[in-house]
Amino acid sequence: MADQQVNERLADYSGYNPEMTPEKALALFEEARAAGCPVARSEQMGGFHILLDYDDVKKVSSDDAFSTEAGMFRPVVDRPPLPPTEYDEPEHTKWRDLFRLGVDAKTSDKIEPGVREDVVALIEGFAASGSCDLVRDFAVPVPLLAICRILGLDPARGAELRALTDDLMANLENPAGAAAAYGALAQFGVAEVENRRAEPRDDFMTSLANAEMDGRPLNENEIAQTMASLLSAGHETSTVLMTNMLHEVLSRPEVRAALIADPKLIPAAVEEVLRLHPPVMGLYRRMKETRDVNGVELAEGDDVLLCWAANNRDPAVFDAPNEFRLDRKRNRHLTFGWGTHACLGAPVARMEMRVGLEELLKRLPDIELTEPGKDYKFTNLEWVVIESLDATFAPRSA
Ligand code: HEM
Repeated sequence: MADQQVNERLADYSGYNPEMTPEKALALFEEARAAGCPVARSEQMGGFHILLDYDDVKKVSSDDAFSTEAGMFRPVVDRPPLPPTEYDEPEHTKWRDLFRLGVDAKTSDKIEPGVREDVVALIEGFAASGSCDLVRDFAVPVPLLAICRILGLDPARGAELRALTDDLMANLENPAGAAAAYGALAQFGVAEVENRRAEPRDDFMTSLANAEMDGRPLNENEIAQTMASLLSAGHETSTVLMTNMLHEVLSRPEVRAALIADPKLIPAAVEEVLRLHPPVMGLYRRMKETRDVNGVELAEGDDVLLCWAANNRDPAVFDAPNEFRLDRKRNRHLTFGWGTHACLGAPVARMEMRVGLEELLKRLPDIELTEPGKDYKFTNLEWVVIESLDATFAPRSA
């Protein structure tokens, strides 16, 4: 009975449902799991299954029956796929290899000194004023400048890139708008690629200029798709995570004090924020073949949400799953995905968070949020966000 009641309430689950908040959704997921319902069901957007169990999601993340070709977001919209994620094999591997030209195991170390310079310059930019909005003045520009470093773009073009990202994110669910957003990205990307063909450099845009797909140079659409993916996967996610991290750490005086006393604890704080507050609740798959998961039939054609936010609070894997613990051992959260589509940028994202927090707490240890403990909100595409973080501190000269 309890099972049936919680499933009825989860039938309304969607980030698009104005009645649903991230907090309510997490409480419902917890109730469903406790009621013995690890595969829940929403009837929103044509209906989809919600995988709440950590082990289930890990298992299905390398199963080709769970296809990404219909897109990783819902509702399904006619727009160019975001590579590599929105391709199944064998195309997925071709795209993933292309992305590895720009984001590999060495990228994080390579760009860290530059990211630190950017972070320090941003802090110095607002230090004298005694106040800032940590979203606008820090969480947005830090990852944006990091993406400029990866792509090899002049940081002065950061504002232009931000506008292209905003336009893309606002239009991923709107075919007409998406076509215009991809068109603008194509124009931007093709001009940069042509410039690198004339004057090669050591950057991702030069790799794209030289890259081949099926034995021919990349076409205009493929360049736009690559730009769109890097801006959504690499920039928007990191901005949201940086916001969540600053919000969580600065809303907890004891955590902030511990990190100032021992900055070596910062990576543990970053992992706890990743676990408890992933930038998206989860992403979708469509079944290419029928599978049984935990006794529930996921039939060919069904939609399925891999719900990382719920998996990361699975009590079978994490002790006291709702608590923020700096001493958590083996924090094996799924926020960077798992298996076939595991995030290529995870080391870069972790480095941006660590460097951001190291420099902010070192330079402005007295920084306080005007409104700690804010509520998270859903925006389009089930992103879980906080829109602004006003903060104050004693002004210092640069
Ligand atoms: C907080 C920051 C980030 C989070 C939470 C995040 C999360 C994810 C997740 C969950 C996936 C898997 C998608 C799926 O299974 O459907 C993914 C894939 C991917 N991410 Fe990230 N990401 C972040 C930052 C980055 C950055 C900075 C980059 C690049 C510089 C990046 C590049 C990619 C790429 C290329 C893929 C596609 C992998 C594939 O499909 O084979 N990500 N990311």
